[in-house]
Amino acid sequence: MTKTPNHQKVVLIGDGAVGSSYAFAMAQQGLAEEFVIVDVIKERTEGDALDLEDVQAFTAPKNIYSGDYSDCSDADLVVITAGAPQKPGETRLQLVNKNLKIIQSIVKPIVDSGFDGIFVVAANPVDVLTYAVWKFSGFDKSRVIGSGTSLDSARLRVALAKKLNVDPRDVNANIMGEHGDSEFAAYSTATAGGVSVVQLAKEAGVSFDDLLQIEDETRHKAYEIINRKGATYYGVATCLMRISRAILRDENAILPVGAALDGEYGLNDIFIGTPAVINGSGLAKVIEVKLDDREKDLMAKSAATLRQVTADGIA
Ligand code: NAD
Ligand code: LAC
Repeated sequence: MTKTPNHQKVVLIGDGAVGSSYAFAMAQQGLAEEFVIVDVIKERTEGDALDLEDVQAFTAPKNIYSGDYSDCSDADLVVITAGAPQKPGETRLQLVNKNLKIIQSIVKPIVDSGFDGIFVVAANPVDVLTYAVWKFSGFDKSRVIGSGTSLDSARLRVALAKKLNVDPRDVNANIMGEHGDSEFAAYSTATAGGVSVVQLAKEAGVSFDDLLQIEDETRHKAYEIINRKGATYYGVATCLMRISRAILRDENAILPVGAALDGEYGLNDIFIGTPAVINGSGLAKVIEVKLDDREKDLMAKSAATLRQVTADGIA
């Protein structure tokens, strides 16, 4: 164990739909003794801090307040959800120019504060922006984690669970690659109850083509939500809470996240969705999944898509 959980401080940067939902999830779980909210709209952070204070009557006393970048100096964790969301029909990658500027303006004052903890990034396009946070901060790769394909993997698990009529928490299946249109389901290693999901599906009369249909629906689910209500936030907020808990409680949890690769999958100098061990030190280890030929090809294509955008945006 690397960290004693005596007093933990989290700073949230970006108090919009995703950020405020994450703050609510953290308050409900009673995670972090100190929770600071920062946004360019100061009044909103003050209102949210007051609103979230009321949750404590049902959890545990916490210090939740509106702050600024100087509050990052002694924080354990900084979670970045600041940035424009997609408009209906817009891809995540199309947000890159707008959100890269925002990220750049955020990371400098955080680093200048003396922050020495772990960054978790959710703003889109998340893989590119996580890479940017790593570059702009100069931090070790282990201390910069993207939400990556955590939300997509949650969506896949829920969809497979419905199809197989099992509890989603018992489905161990990951979406990998870009958090975006080039992502893919790593079905060759997906299991439920220790049995291959492909095998379980077959026994239930669900073909591999049906599984590919689920992969496609998972890939497009964000668009379905954005077309109906303008944004997605509860799912990603829960993923961010889960990643935060793994860090704050030093869990060594294996979670799908946006991780820096160092030769895994034949890739370097990129942040991309893969399972990894998350603990109090950040990203302790990338779990390199043994992909089949279809998945290897899709991983390479997804990485190429990201590389193009990262190179154009950050070079
Ligand atoms: P939103 O517009 O509701 O909130 C964005 C917030 O960022 C606003 O409150 C805004 O004032 C704030 N902000 C902008 N610039 C800032 C700055 N320089 N400093 C501090 N705060 C600043 O948007 P949202 O729906 O909360 O989405 C936020 C981001 O999260 C988007 O980029 C969206 O695409 C992304 N997102 C990611 C995932 C994922 O799985 N990774 C899921 C959903 C949304
Ligand atoms: C999602 C966001 C939009 O819900 O990235 O997948």
